[in-house]
Amino acid sequence: MTERMTERRKILVTSALPYANGSIHLGHLVEYIQTDIWARFQKMRGHECYYVCADDAHGTAIMLKAEQLGISPEALISQVKAEHQKDFGDFLIQFDNYHSTHSEENRELSSLIYNRLYENDHIATREITQAFDPEKNLFLADRYIKGTCPKCKTDDQYGDNCEACGATYSPTDLINPVSAVSGATPIEKDSKHYFFKLPEFSDFLKEWTRAGHVQEEVANKLGEWLDSGLHEWDISRDAPYFGFEIPNAPGKYFYVWLDAPIGYMASFKNLCAKEGLSFDEFWGQNSEAELYHFIGKDIVNFHALFWPAMLTSAKFRTPTRVCVHGFLTVNGKKMSKSRGTFINARSYLDNLNPEYLRYYFAAKLSSGVDDLDLNLDDFIQRVNSDLVGKVVNIASRCAKFITKGNDGVLSTAIADDALWQQSAAAADSIASHYENREFGKAIREIMALADAANEYIAAKEPWKLSKEEGCEQDVLDICSLGINLFRALMVYLKPVLPAMAKEAETFLNDSLSWEGKLQPLTGHKINKFKPLMQRVEQDKVDAMLEASKEILTAATTQPVVSSSPLADEPLADEINFDDFIKVDLRVALITKAQHVEGADKLLQLTLDIGGETRNVFSGIKSSYQPEDLEGRLTVLVANLAPRKMRFGVSEGMVLAAGDKKGIYLLSPDSGAEPGQRIV
Ligand code: MSP
Ligand code: ZN
Repeated sequence: MTERMTERRKILVTSALPYANGSIHLGHLVEYIQTDIWARFQKMRGHECYYVCADDAHGTAIMLKAEQLGISPEALISQVKAEHQKDFGDFLIQFDNYHSTHSEENRELSSLIYNRLYENDHIATREITQAFDPEKNLFLADRYIKGTCPKCKTDDQYGDNCEACGATYSPTDLINPVSAVSGATPIEKDSKHYFFKLPEFSDFLKEWTRAGHVQEEVANKLGEWLDSGLHEWDISRDAPYFGFEIPNAPGKYFYVWLDAPIGYMASFKNLCAKEGLSFDEFWGQNSEAELYHFIGKDIVNFHALFWPAMLTSAKFRTPTRVCVHGFLTVNGKKMSKSRGTFINARSYLDNLNPEYLRYYFAAKLSSGVDDLDLNLDDFIQRVNSDLVGKVVNIASRCAKFITKGNDGVLSTAIADDALWQQSAAAADSIASHYENREFGKAIREIMALADAANEYIAAKEPWKLSKEEGCEQDVLDICSLGINLFRALMVYLKPVLPAMAKEAETFLNDSLSWEGKLQPLTGHKINKFKPLMQRVEQDKVDAMLEASKEILTAATTQPVVSSSPLADEPLADEINFDDFIKVDLRVALITKAQHVEGADKLLQLTLDIGGETRNVFSGIKSSYQPEDLEGRLTVLVANLAPRKMRFGVSEGMVLAAGDKKGIYLLSPDSGAEPGQRIV
């Protein structure tokens, strides 16, 4: 797709609405950062672009979580919304509006759309039989029922599939099924449900999904579903449910996924009221505006099947494009709580600059749906070498000669026009990479320009020339070009690095705009150079991982709908005996245990391992009083490399089982001696 530059496009952009019952983590941020870069790029190019989002506030999970916390669902969703908005703001995600699906706009639009589907005869009703919790008076979705797998007989499996053997079945097949909410034995109960007649849209969807609205690989996947036949979609849930009641259907509520995408419209409608925009120009059937939804690959069916079908029936426009991305892995593996790689936005922000991550994700993003890996060694290396070593370095090497030599005024000539033209001419190609969501390609092209600029400066050696008689003008010309090349790079990087771009604007005494053709700054006064970005430090990354491990233990204070510990933490890759025996486990006597000032989750332990004393920080504070631990035996990983933490050096790790339920410190039977090896 080439960028339509001649006209001022009207563009509405969305990211998927995060659930209002959990914190934002780095996986989510793949999406919000990707969308934000794209929206900022469109705005920078002069288009009329709005980026809206909201919290997805309805459903059983939110209702039950609020109940467990002893607060109303309204209180829960407003707390979580504030937390989400703070996290997004600190990651420089610039929404034009952030709303909630639990809003008046959404209630009205959901009713309107449902009524239109109903009038068009696209709603069916029938009785269905479901599992029901007789104690809570609640119909139970599959994930709220647990029991023994009928196939392999493993305990504590969910109602739809077995984590141990992979069998799929219906909850009624479980042996000894129990409600995960109350522990009661579920009964079967009938109730009337409302369905959206999706199969009537098969032909429309077959065409729509092949008309350039989704990536080809996504269209192929959708094609498989379409070929195997669509089913009617159950859009109702019985009370009690936190959501909107269905018009003319007392006690029946819209299933959360019915009103969630309508939340995109509701958020925009809320923005229209604030800013006097026309809702119809963007959502009307004949809208000429463009509509882009950025989503993860797990929610494609909702956005590329149900949603366009609903919009069509309700006489609204359909999306221009649904942009699907893959999932985040950390160090090559699924994010894991015990490895500390399930990293919340806040744990990252407490330790690291958000622009490091924005840059790293940009460098690795493409328009495809492949998963994206955050390799933390590569992250440190890449950010330091590209941003600090290449981009900032150009400005820092050149600035002083202009400040000292010419009072901060750039020369009136461009020393090497070909080099400047090369940088300026790259604008179109870089823009088309951004437009096509090929951010990695854009970054590679920008870094190639940075390399060329650095090579030029290295070859000209202005620092040597400046010591020679009569070379003042040359030095000024070389460094002025250097500053102009830096400026071009910062224009191109501005959608990715808005805060650094702002500081560069102060330094350059100029705004970094990308609307017309790039012209060099000549005879222009710049300001004193201040370092624009610090290097990423390894110990900050370590501290972030450490803090993320603490979050696991902190989870004990937050009751969560019960689940299998094995499902939360899948078994690690198999190892052989040689790997195992590398770990030196010793019996340790806790001689002293104390609180750590400023740490929410840690206790400081002094351990005797038979003639040697160790200092260890352990995230067990929520479950133990220090005085109860003194004199107790436990197990120490004795040959773990010492780890520098915020509070001191931790020399090993004590073993404990820990999950949402609690923390359980391991102890050998009495009689064991401190220092004995455990095998
Ligand atoms: N509430 C729904 C979306 C409703 S949109 C009308 C939802 N919420 S979510 O919080 O689970 O996810 C929000 C977005 O983040 C989704 O697009 C999802 O794919 C994305 N991601 C969540 N975890 C992710 C990773 N680990 N990696 C990349 N993206 C991920 O789904
Ligand atoms: Zn099984």
